[in-house]
Amino acid sequence: MTIESDDDLAGLKVIGRIVRNCLREMARHVRPGIATAELDDIGGRYLAAHGARSAPRLAYDFPGHTCISVNDEAAHGVPGPRTLQAGDLVNIDVSAELNGYWTDTGSSFPVGPVAPAVEKLCRTTKAALRKAVYAAKAGRPINAIGRAVEREARRGGYRIIADLAGHGVGRGIHEPPTVSNVYVAGNRQRLHEGLVITIEPFLTEGAGAVFEAEDGWTLKTADGALSAQYEHTLVITKGQPIVVT
Ligand code: CO
Ligand code: CO
Repeated sequence: MTIESDDDLAGLKVIGRIVRNCLREMARHVRPGIATAELDDIGGRYLAAHGARSAPRLAYDFPGHTCISVNDEAAHGVPGPRTLQAGDLVNIDVSAELNGYWTDTGSSFPVGPVAPAVEKLCRTTKAALRKAVYAAKAGRPINAIGRAVEREARRGGYRIIADLAGHGVGRGIHEPPTVSNVYVAGNRQRLHEGLVITIEPFLTEGAGAVFEAEDGWTLKTADGALSAQYEHTLVITKGQPIVVT
């Protein structure tokens, strides 16, 4: 969506804060031994307590309140009886709707102590998000975002999962435009003031291909490699974007 009034911005900020705090609340409970379904219940209760509705449920009838993806699962992992183990890397993605406004956020979390290589993957992916947010300004071509992500990935020695991308958001969970994490020379559509998008780089230690698992939801890396993702919803301005999550 494109913000057209102060009410639009206020509405987005309210649901932005709810998904941010929901993710924080879930993150507080990430520890070895917890089942991903238990984590999801914590998120579901948080959203309900704040009057918000899970976006994946509402839009896609997803079998969970949030997406929880472990290790070789890159995205859209279905919460279930699987318990987290020390050394795992878990991604939690929270998106929700309130009063017709939708926002989307996500983070990867190491479970207990992890190998230095996993810490580095997380650090680099976080940096890629930060640099891409910095590059997202009104008047610039949308491919400035993918360019920033690519540069950071290359510097860290990682590949990008090109099938997964950011997107427009605000009046629905997935709106145009697609916000690619790779640099596509022809994607010169200009970002405009008030445009609401997510930026969500997925970096991997592997080759970057993903496939859909038998559950019909979970996307796994084809080579079994780890991936990390960090995501924010933001509003484009002439200066720094307004990050609402
Ligand atoms: Co998300
Ligand atoms: Co998203």
